[in-house]
Amino acid sequence: MRKKIVAGNWKMNMTTAEAATLVTALKADLANFREVEVVVCPPFTALATVSELIQGTHLDLGAQNMHWEKNGAYTGEICAGMLRELYCHYVILGHSERRQYFGETDAIVNRKAQAALASSLHPIVCVGETLQEREAGQVEAVITTQVQGSLAGLSAKEMLDSVIAYEPVWAIGTGKTASSEQAQEVHALIRQVLTGLYDATVAQAVRIQYGGSVKPANARELFAMPDIDGGLIGGAALDAKSFIDIVRAAV
Ligand code: 13P
Repeated sequence: MRKKIVAGNWKMNMTTAEAATLVTALKADLANFREVEVVVCPPFTALATVSELIQGTHLDLGAQNMHWEKNGAYTGEICAGMLRELYCHYVILGHSERRQYFGETDAIVNRKAQAALASSLHPIVCVGETLQEREAGQVEAVITTQVQGSLAGLSAKEMLDSVIAYEPVWAIGTGKTASSEQAQEVHALIRQVLTGLYDATVAQAVRIQYGGSVKPANARELFAMPDIDGGLIGGAALDAKSFIDIVRAAV
């Protein structure tokens, strides 16, 4: 049985003070909530504060990016060890915004995923097609390439320690959610690709989140689909009540 996982990707939002307010509100409701794995992913600058505030609760901490090297002359970058020091357990990798604005390729995402796993961080590897690709009938090809490229060389154990997030680019921040059927179709495709790379047992055990305009109003229907194991939430994760409602919709 796959345990559902709902993660809040705060993106480049929340000062440390705002982050503390938000996470305090989340804690008031979710501190002892065990039915769903709940992860918050603040910007780097708020990780330490949020980490301290969630100690002793069932909330988990994630980062939004990392570099693949262990240390060195990479101005402006953050490595896995720095995230581990702050008790991060997850790291979002290959988000479409990083692919689009910062030139991240599947090969880069793959290096980062390998480095994260080597430091016992669970990568949340994002994949998703653009509207143009969907309209050109390329969803299967694009998703297959991204999954195979981003996860290349991971052992079965490493794959099981990873999470995949399907985030159609056209649904991110647009208010246009994929229908639950559209999302389910791609989630099933991802499991098929995993079956090819590993086997059916691994493919059935890996958790696949949906992301893209998930709101309290549509979360329940999406999370009820057989291959959707929770969500990666952007805008709605910045509001405590919305995020809590989405988390509870995963039960
Ligand atoms: P929105 O929920 O704001 O559409 O963002 C989704 C996302 O990109 C999460 O990583």
